[in-house]
Amino acid sequence: MAEKITVSLIKADVGGWPGHSLVHPDLIKTAKKELEKEKGKLLIDFHVTNCGDDLELLMTHRKGVDSEEVHHLAWNTFEEATKVAMNLKLYGAGQDLLGEAFSGNIKGLGPGVAELEFDERKAETIIAFMMDKTDPGAFNLPIYKMFADPFNTIGLVIDPNAVSGFTFEVWDILESKKVFMKCPEELYKMLALIGAKSRYVIKNVFPKKGGKLPSEQSAATISTEKLYEIAGDYVGKDDPVALVRAQSGLPAVGEILEPFTFPHLVAGWMRGSHNGPIMPVSQKNAICTRFDGPPRVIALGFQIANGKLVGPVDLFDDPAYDLARMKAQRAADYMRQHGPFEPHRLPCADMEYTTLPAILRELEKRFEKL
Ligand code: 13P
Ligand code: 13P
Ligand code: MG
Ligand code: MG
Repeated sequence: MAEKITVSLIKADVGGWPGHSLVHPDLIKTAKKELEKEKGKLLIDFHVTNCGDDLELLMTHRKGVDSEEVHHLAWNTFEEATKVAMNLKLYGAGQDLLGEAFSGNIKGLGPGVAELEFDERKAETIIAFMMDKTDPGAFNLPIYKMFADPFNTIGLVIDPNAVSGFTFEVWDILESKKVFMKCPEELYKMLALIGAKSRYVIKNVFPKKGGKLPSEQSAATISTEKLYEIAGDYVGKDDPVALVRAQSGLPAVGEILEPFTFPHLVAGWMRGSHNGPIMPVSQKNAICTRFDGPPRVIALGFQIANGKLVGPVDLFDDPAYDLARMKAQRAADYMRQHGPFEPHRLPCADMEYTTLPAILRELEKRFEKL
């Protein structure tokens, strides 16, 4: 069998246009130029796009997960795009490049990373999800529904290759530890964790042992980088990305997209400090405008042929999601009317990672004992 294929989705905000709305076309052009130099060499194929103000590099290669060469290429590409952003005086130029210099792995330096390595199947379907104005916990609910909820995924009920369920790798991002949970056996216990999405995030989903697919090859992976922990200060939200493989023992494309018909509330939005609905949109509509949002998600679908990316198909560019978008806007209106009040504004614990503590420190001296 041919060597395994790796799909790497690496993203960074290296400058917004205007404010935190969008990526300027010159940055996309620069990134394409940089990756083109490696096409047919380090990379088999690539696709460059943006979700809101995040520059997204989707790459295929045979170097495996955590490849120093691939991560270095992504880092250099973001640095080149930052130079362009600085010349255009874009907002927050170089915002997510927090590391001083590249040193072997791009993780921990600011950019978000989702990577999958697998044996390419006879027909290999993959969906790349990208979100802006939210954090990795925003993927908990939809990933749970895709791989564990039979009311969402009928394959869990009627596909002999999916009926035994999946194993979830859940990270505690506060205490940097992880746990593997088998579903459906441990479904309720897993919900006890992942319902607290600011702390417990789904990192990977694996097929069960003894099934049609290798149980060590992740079927879905989510970026979990937390900018605050790297920078020690508020620099922006940790706008996450995910890769989800589909079909033939995994959820079908339609089962993977179905959770996004419910625009659930996620943390992020204006100044990374608010709860708001996540709105599924076409790539061209991933422009964060209203109150710097509402938070958005795009889904690009591909077939992979010997590492070549056959696509993208812009999956939410479809009237079937109009109602979800309408629901999102109604929810956005409702939440906005709370102004600075919780639960629109994030609870105190989550506000620690914003600019609010500076204000509270100032007030601290004025308090008198009761
Ligand atoms: P597969 O099991 O071949 O992926 O087919 C599922 C399907 O067609 C869903 O609509
Ligand atoms: P980004 O994380 O997308 O840069 O947004 C930050 C922000 O403060 C939006 O209001
Ligand atoms: Mg930004
Ligand atoms: Mg962003």
